[in-house]
Amino acid sequence: MKILVIGGTNFIGPYVIRQLIEMGHEVTVFNRGETGTNLPTEVKRIKGDRHKLSDFKSEFEKFAPQVVLDMIPYTTKDAQDVVDTFKDIAQRVVAISSGDVYRARDIIWQKETGIIDSTPLTEDSPLRSQLYPYRGLSDDPFAHDYDKIPVEQVLMSTSNLPATILRLPMVYGAGDYQHRLYPYLKRMDDKRPAIVLEEKIAHWQGCYGYVENVAYAIALAVNEEKAQGRIYNVAELPGSTVADLVKAIAEIVGWQGEVVIVPKTQMPNSWKSKSNFDQHWITDSTRIRTELGYTEIVSRDEALKRTITWEREHPPEVALEKGHSKLLDYKDENVILASLKS
Ligand SMILES: NC(=O)c1ccc[n+]([C@@H]2O[C@H](COP(=O)([O-])OP(=O)(O)OC[C@H]3O[C@@H](n4cnc5c(N)ncnc54)[C@H](OP(=O)(O)O)[C@@H]3O)[C@@H](O)[C@H]2O)c1
Repeated sequence: MKILVIGGTNFIGPYVIRQLIEMGHEVTVFNRGETGTNLPTEVKRIKGDRHKLSDFKSEFEKFAPQVVLDMIPYTTKDAQDVVDTFKDIAQRVVAISSGDVYRARDIIWQKETGIIDSTPLTEDSPLRSQLYPYRGLSDDPFAHDYDKIPVEQVLMSTSNLPATILRLPMVYGAGDYQHRLYPYLKRMDDKRPAIVLEEKIAHWQGCYGYVENVAYAIALAVNEEKAQGRIYNVAELPGSTVADLVKAIAEIVGWQGEVVIVPKTQMPNSWKSKSNFDQHWITDSTRIRTELGYTEIVSRDEALKRTITWEREHPPEVALEKGHSKLLDYKDENVILASLKS
């Protein structure tokens, strides 16, 4: 099939494109050309900005894709532009969403109160009642208009361009610009004697996915026509607690330190978590496994090993924000460890 990929050259995209090529598809990428030169040579390019998608309609018509894979639909307008531009060109669209659509996300961030949602979250679990989760948090226009809920609604309610939605977990692997595993690894490589975790955080379960596995799930959804009209969670089995994740990394790198779990009352005030970690954020990926036959192509152990190698070779260029991983800085951590000994 001919596949047009919108975006696709930064983190997850290149892995998806390689798998689509391996499946025998013909791929054209549409992006601004500011990232990613490392794509297979057979991939064709259309250079442009998705904010002016309709300007490129004649080029899209010339390529005549059967499936459009939108890697980067962030706003209502993004989704509507895809529908308007491709409804007479393509047969279906696959769009990348996120587990941040679930109400559980806002329970964690204390934007919603009330009962905790049961986990794992299925595709039918409640969604956030408040739209635009990042609005007001920064001046970035992206933060103002970002929301995958209206993106999904626009695409799923359009009859003349059937859609598939994939709700992704926290993705790690080579190229992860959020460096999700780095803070733990850094402490181990710095030979810290211990990593202190606040109790609720240590036991909190989040949903993760290794990039090559997530990319395979996306490629499957593109490949399988029966995916149309369906929403799928993508996540590893089982969900992992933060403490388990730290221990899994420790085992691979041979770190001899200790994971020290302390109640919130013993944390310094500036490090006490403000989120509600009684709410877990794991999603149930049964549907994509049973309907599309998805299964991980890289084991978790191998996934962690590949990620660790990459993180060591590509540490973050700028220091990660304080609290990025809810880990203490070394000075405060030393104080807690000393107080536990006395
Ligand atoms: N990483 C995670 O943990 C995670 C979790 C949940 C959901 N997701 C979702 O996963 C998706 C993929 O993320 P990714 O970073 O891996 O994406 P990606 O598809 O690998 O890279 C982003 C792409 O978008 C292109 N792009 C950006 N702005 C553009 C514009 N205005 N017009 C045309 N192209 C544009 C970039 O190329 P140029 O800059 O060259 O234009 C690049 O090709 C996103 O929808 C994200 O919300 C990610």
